[in-house]
Amino acid sequence: MKILATYNIKGGVGKTATAVNLSYLAARDGLRVLLADLDPQAAATYLLRVRPRVKGGGNALIQGSRELDAAIKGTDFDNLDLLPADFTFRNLDLLLDATKKPTRRLARLLRPLGGEYDLVFLDCPPGISLVSESVLHAADIVLVPIIPTTLSLRTLDQLTEFISGFDGQRPEVLAFFSMIDRRKRLHNEITERLPAERKDVATTAIPALSMIEQMAVQRAPVTAFAPRSAAARAYAGLWAEVQAHEPLLNGPEP
Ligand SMILES: Nc1ncnc2c1ncn2[C@@H]1O[C@H](COP(=O)(O)OP(=O)(O)OP(=O)(O)O)[C@@H](O)[C@H]1O
Ligand SMILES: [Mg+2]
Repeated sequence: MKILATYNIKGGVGKTATAVNLSYLAARDGLRVLLADLDPQAAATYLLRVRPRVKGGGNALIQGSRELDAAIKGTDFDNLDLLPADFTFRNLDLLLDATKKPTRRLARLLRPLGGEYDLVFLDCPPGISLVSESVLHAADIVLVPIIPTTLSLRTLDQLTEFISGFDGQRPEVLAFFSMIDRRKRLHNEITERLPAERKDVATTAIPALSMIEQMAVQRAPVTAFAPRSAAARAYAGLWAEVQAHEPLLNGPEP
């Protein structure tokens, strides 16, 4: 079982849209996928048409793997399950803080799911907190959506430096440009130059497209309701790059 996460300290950069679409593409490739919505805003839960409710709330969830297992719901898509968010997840930090080794808790809770899933995708809330730190400790690959500005690259370097201080397992960081606007010269310049210069920046960029906003209307991944759209093709390109980094995500032979 591999663990992927979308993370950025900044809000509204495309973390959830990416988590939902790549989870769908992985499930379509035949991987058994669990998308875990760790954000009390419950956007991923909404997009997959699941009720944002966990029996016993965040408190039950961090108690043990059995409680976590009981909270998992199916979605409309084969091979894709969801751990819904619950509004009590706003207190997840406090709940984690009360445990032993809080930053390792999430990894420990997820480990027993290895028999049921090939991939767990963590959709992280914005900010830097115990929840996000736990996500960084649990993940094999962290996907970081960035808007192409010099400042957001500084944030990426801060994240990489933070992770390099971890002892034990460190996730691989793969940043990608998100919500790029081809009409902006700076966006074009940065999205072409950076992937060539840095191996932690993906070649695929996700453009700003109203089709992606439509996900909230359709309540489905754009890769499912408009598979031939430019938006879906961009996510497919990003997924192929993630698979190139982690061959175990290639799925069973057809
Ligand atoms: N490439 C894109 N083009 C246009 N709109 C996008 C794109 N990606 C995301 N959006 C829209 O922007 C909003 C924020 O996206 P999303 O929820 O994926 O970001 P987020 O980083 O998860 O936000 P938060 O930090 O609040 O969790 C949503 O309304 C979404 O539909
Ligand atoms: Mg989000």
